Amino acid sequence: MSAHGSVDPRFETARLDRRLFGGFVEHLGRHIYDGIYEPAHATADADGFRADVIELVRELGVSTIRYPGGNFVSGYRWEDGVGPRDQRPRRLDLAWHSTETNEVGLHEFADWLDRVGSDLMLAVNLGTRGTQEALDLLEYANANADTDWTRRRAANGRHDPFAVTMWCLGNEMDGPWQLGHRNAEDYGKLASRTAKAMRMLDPGIELVVCGSSASGMPTFGSWERTVLEHAFDDVDYISCHSYYQEMGGNAQEFLASGVDMARFIEAVSAITDAVAATKKSDKRIMISFDEWNVWYLHNDNGGQNDKPKETGWPVAPRLLEDQYSALDAVVFGDLMITLLQHADRVRSASLAQLVNVIAPIMTEPGGIAWRQTTFFPFSITSRLAGDRVVRVPVDAGTFPSERFGEVANVNAVATVDDDGVSVFVVNRSLTEAADLRLDLSGVAAEFGRDLAVVEAHLLHEDDMYAANTLADPERVGVRPLETTLEGAALTVALPPVSWVAVRLA
Ligand code: AHR
Repeated sequence: MSAHGSVDPRFETARLDRRLFGGFVEHLGRHIYDGIYEPAHATADADGFRADVIELVRELGVSTIRYPGGNFVSGYRWEDGVGPRDQRPRRLDLAWHSTETNEVGLHEFADWLDRVGSDLMLAVNLGTRGTQEALDLLEYANANADTDWTRRRAANGRHDPFAVTMWCLGNEMDGPWQLGHRNAEDYGKLASRTAKAMRMLDPGIELVVCGSSASGMPTFGSWERTVLEHAFDDVDYISCHSYYQEMGGNAQEFLASGVDMARFIEAVSAITDAVAATKKSDKRIMISFDEWNVWYLHNDNGGQNDKPKETGWPVAPRLLEDQYSALDAVVFGDLMITLLQHADRVRSASLAQLVNVIAPIMTEPGGIAWRQTTFFPFSITSRLAGDRVVRVPVDAGTFPSERFGEVANVNAVATVDDDGVSVFVVNRSLTEAADLRLDLSGVAAEFGRDLAVVEAHLLHEDDMYAANTLADPERVGVRPLETTLEGAALTVALPPVSWVAVRLA
């Protein structure tokens, strides 16, 4: 197929907030224990953190990391994870049917973040706990005063506050699986009074209220509206969560996942703006897309894969260890394009998750750490994206989707910065290659000259189910992409099911 498009910096849609390239670390399976933390590993530092994992997380380029859950947070007592390690209690984790040893808590995780160069985003437990415990954690983490909590913080090794800016008011409180699940009315009231109290303690924080845990939830839409009717004035963000997978062997439909994410974002924006209108407010609630990924959550019988085993309470069991294919990485790259296309509204996003648990990085206890296929679109997009997001209209025809009608074969976005332009493109067609010609005359006009291609990457495999594994950790990667630049016309060949990134400077 032939495809035509253009990149013109005058069509800027948003200033990019780097929080869009955030991650998520939950106490779940082998994420913390035998993932980032493995004291007996050959590369472990004095605090038990694997240096090989730290290196890979740095390379991935994650900005803010949401912690400590997820479903886990709704039963978590944060105090269990601070103070002398030998006095920390072992607890049952009801969300993942595991035993939590509490060897890693707030201090250790913050130390690890210093090493990987990312910021902390905290979630408070509004499942089994409430406003007072949220205030206790906020005082412990952020207060600059002489109190019992801040003395304890200092005694535990941190004199200065952790200064955490972003706080989630619970997790997926719309989900019946959530400990302390509430209806929208009850949660909206709890979120509002907790947010008000937290702001009295620290007016500088930014607060995320729980939206729906998926756009397919029966309460989607009415949940957002009711929660915001109570908490609109008290919060800055509403969360979106969404996971995608190939169902019933229908890869073409799976390749349309970006459309689903776009519609979800647009629907939530419309609902929040409708609430604003009823309140006669020009305040805009932003979106924190704080869980997104490919996750093989449902099996073809409509059941759930990877349910925690209900026998025993293991420490760090192997849970949610999905292996990602080249196809998954192409869909994933398209989800990143979609987030960038909505950067005017999505100011923060967290890839769920980071290590071993539906993760771009895998580890073997006592063994290697390796990059999954999804690592590549994330690390390249995070590294190449500039600070201004630009719309890239492309005409390349459509394919019919059962759920979304006609879906564009090619989807693209660009970013511009002082030194150049980065373009990210996906070919969603299962069968057809695309010869894409992009008119960059608008870019040449902005910079006063034509730019040169300095990097071009292709993610594509003839076997789209190829994956990286412990036995073959470098089977899939990105390859150099051939480009032709004639004046201001850039031409690239996109194989079917492919993702590319081109940097011009
Ligand atoms: O990311 C895995 C789980 O997915 C999280 O714990 C939960 O918030 C969501 O349902």
